[in-house]
Amino acid sequence: MTFTRLLVTVGAALATSQLVSAAVATHGVKCPTGQTTANKACCALFPIIETLQTKLFDNAECGEEAHSALRLSFHDAIGFSIHGGKGGGADGSILAFNKTETAFHANSGIDDIIDAQWPVFQEVGTLSAGDFVHLAAAVGITNCPGAPSLEFFLGRPPPRAAAPDLTVPEPTDSVTAILTRFADAGFNPNEVIALLSSHTIAAADEVDPSIPGTPFDSTVGTFDSQVFLEVLLKGTLFPGKNESHPGEVLSPIEGEMRLQSDFALSQDPRTACLWQDMINNQNRMVTQFKAAMAKLQVLGQNKAKLIDCSDVIPQAAPFKGPIKYPATFSKAQVQQACHASPFPKLATVAGPAPTLPPVPPS
Ligand code: HEM
Ligand SMILES: *[C@@H]1O[C@H](CO)[C@@H](O)[C@H](O)[C@H]1NC(C)=O
Ligand SMILES: *[C@@H]1O[C@H](CO)[C@@H](O)[C@H](O)[C@H]1NC(C)=O
Repeated sequence: MTFTRLLVTVGAALATSQLVSAAVATHGVKCPTGQTTANKACCALFPIIETLQTKLFDNAECGEEAHSALRLSFHDAIGFSIHGGKGGGADGSILAFNKTETAFHANSGIDDIIDAQWPVFQEVGTLSAGDFVHLAAAVGITNCPGAPSLEFFLGRPPPRAAAPDLTVPEPTDSVTAILTRFADAGFNPNEVIALLSSHTIAAADEVDPSIPGTPFDSTVGTFDSQVFLEVLLKGTLFPGKNESHPGEVLSPIEGEMRLQSDFALSQDPRTACLWQDMINNQNRMVTQFKAAMAKLQVLGQNKAKLIDCSDVIPQAAPFKGPIKYPATFSKAQVQQACHASPFPKLATVAGPAPTLPPVPPS
């Protein structure tokens, strides 16, 4: 694929958007495919979304690819500093310069989603790498009940270079190191915890490579606040062979992985109340996640030059809360680190203590 072609496509789209913007101020445009959107330039995305759902997300599943497309969007965008001197941010460099960026330690395992996205990216052909990576993340999470419809802005230019190493936080990092890195990219602690809502649809392949697909919470296919609860439950075991690995701490449930960084953030005075306040607060969680993602997904971009295509993003099925303690757990196991607000009252799932199955590879 030639970058010139991409530039021409984006340029044409921008020109078109200026022409039609007055006409669509009060009503949308009807696309050839039947859907309506505020901006004609966004029509091209509807068939691309179909392609993503069938060819990347196994017919609109909240599975491994949807999860890791979200992780990819983060690892791409965070290669950025508000002080300059790092990468281009949300520019798709992780996809376009994948040989360089997949070699970084913090990106271990990310080659799987790159291998899955690459042929679809080639087939689509008309999106820049940045638009592709960040559209895929937005579409993928709508396969998970409870997820918000993220903003999507179209028109990122092709990435110019790979991001440098050491921009992506690691689970072995201290809270100070994590908050410092995020602050360098422009995010405050509130936004960091909001972004970590993503770990409600997450699993680890590489922390303990002997048990790939080990989920971070008991509802890995639902965008709920369960992970914020389960990270606080007293840990008793390591999933798999009951051996610890770097970045992993004791987990409360068989088959569940707890990241050291998630636990540290849940206990640290700077973030404990932000963490706890997410529990069973679906509305707060998705609102804050959406706002923080809106910032993340255009990091390093000139937003004024992008076209707002947010209305093409599908809507997820709703999550019908409340969340519950996993079977056999109660407030008695909560390692409460925030006392400024009361701990939410929650029921417990009936039955014996669960053993979580791994997330299948695809
Ligand atoms: C403190 C910052 C963070 C750390 C240390 C961290 C660390 C990790 C680690 C170690 C994994 C498991 C990777 C593997 O072994 O396969 C993971 C998975 C994941 N992370 Fe994070 N993460 C952080 C923040 C974020 C953010 C901000 C997002 C998105 C906005 C995110 C989204 C995900 C997702 C969706 C997965 C699951 C991928 C899958 O199931 O395939 N993470 N994270
Ligand atoms: C990126 O990944 C794809 C699929 O693994 C590969 O075919 C392609 O050559 C890679 N590109 C670079 C620049 O490494
Ligand atoms: C697993 O390891 C932990 C920590 O080393 C230990 O306390 C626990 O008893 C072990 N559990 C089992 C079932 O072996």
